[in-house]
Amino acid sequence: MEICIYRAYEEMSRAAAQEVADVLNAKPNAVLGMATGSTPLGVYQQLVKMHTRGEIDFSHVTTFNLDEYVGLPITHAQSYHRFMHENFFRHINIPPQNIHIPSGTTTNYRAFCDWYEKRIEEAGGIDLQILGIGSDGHIAFNEPGSSLSSRTRLKTLAKQTIDDNARFFDKPQDVPIYAITMGVGTILEAKQILLLANGANKAQAVAEAVEGPVTSMITASALQMHPSVRAFFDEAAAAKLKMREYYDWIQFHKPGAPRV
Ligand code: GLP
Repeated sequence: MEICIYRAYEEMSRAAAQEVADVLNAKPNAVLGMATGSTPLGVYQQLVKMHTRGEIDFSHVTTFNLDEYVGLPITHAQSYHRFMHENFFRHINIPPQNIHIPSGTTTNYRAFCDWYEKRIEEAGGIDLQILGIGSDGHIAFNEPGSSLSSRTRLKTLAKQTIDDNARFFDKPQDVPIYAITMGVGTILEAKQILLLANGANKAQAVAEAVEGPVTSMITASALQMHPSVRAFFDEAAAAKLKMREYYDWIQFHKPGAPRV
C-alpha cells in the first residue's frame, strides 16, 4: 500500500481526481468503481471541474457503485442513486446505460446481486475502485465480521454505521437497517484501489486498516492483501499512523528513485 498524506482535504481530493484522470487518459473506456459518503465528494467536484474544462471525457466510461441502502426509493434524498446523480453523474457526459448502482428496491436480492457480479465481470472488471472507510473500519457496507472473500450481497448494518449515518436523516429510526453491498472479495478484484480518508474520526480505523493485522473485524485491512492500493489521507486521518515518518520519507525520496 502506498500512503500519501496531504495537509488538507482539498489537496487530497485534487490528487485523487488526478489519479482518476490518469486512468481515463490511459484507458478512455475504463471501468470505475464509485463510492458515496462525504469523503469522495471533493474528488467528484474536482472531476466535474476537469470535465467542464474539457480535460476529461466520460463518454466511454462505465461505473459500478459499491452499495445502496435497502428500501429507499431512488428519488429519496439519502439514496446513493440520488447522491451519485446530484453530485456527479448529472454534471458529466457518462451515458446513463453505463451507470450501475445496486438496487435497494429489487424484489429478488439474491438474483440482483448475482447479476451485479456478472455485469462487473462482463465489463472486464473494475480498473480503479474509489473507497472511503467507515469509522468501524468498513469498506462499502462490509461491516466487522464480513468474510474477506464476500461477494455482492444483502448486509445488515452495524449499530455504529447506523449511528454515524443518522446525521443525514430526519430521525435515527429512518436510517435503513439493510444495504446491498459489493463484497470484500469483489472489491479486492479491482485492478487498482484508491482509499481515501479525512478527519479525526477516521484516524483509529485508518491506523488499524493500514498497520494492524488483516482481520475481518476491520474489513479495510484486507486491502493489505491487494497489490495496487494507494491510500490518500489528510493529516487528521493519518494522526494515529505509527510509521508516519517512513511514509513521508518514501514520498520525499520518490522523485529520485530508480525507475522500475
Ligand atoms: C458509508 C458507505 C461507505 C463510506 C462510509 C464513510 O458507510 N457505505 O462506502 O466509506 O459511509 O462515509 P463518509 O465518507 O461520509 O465518512
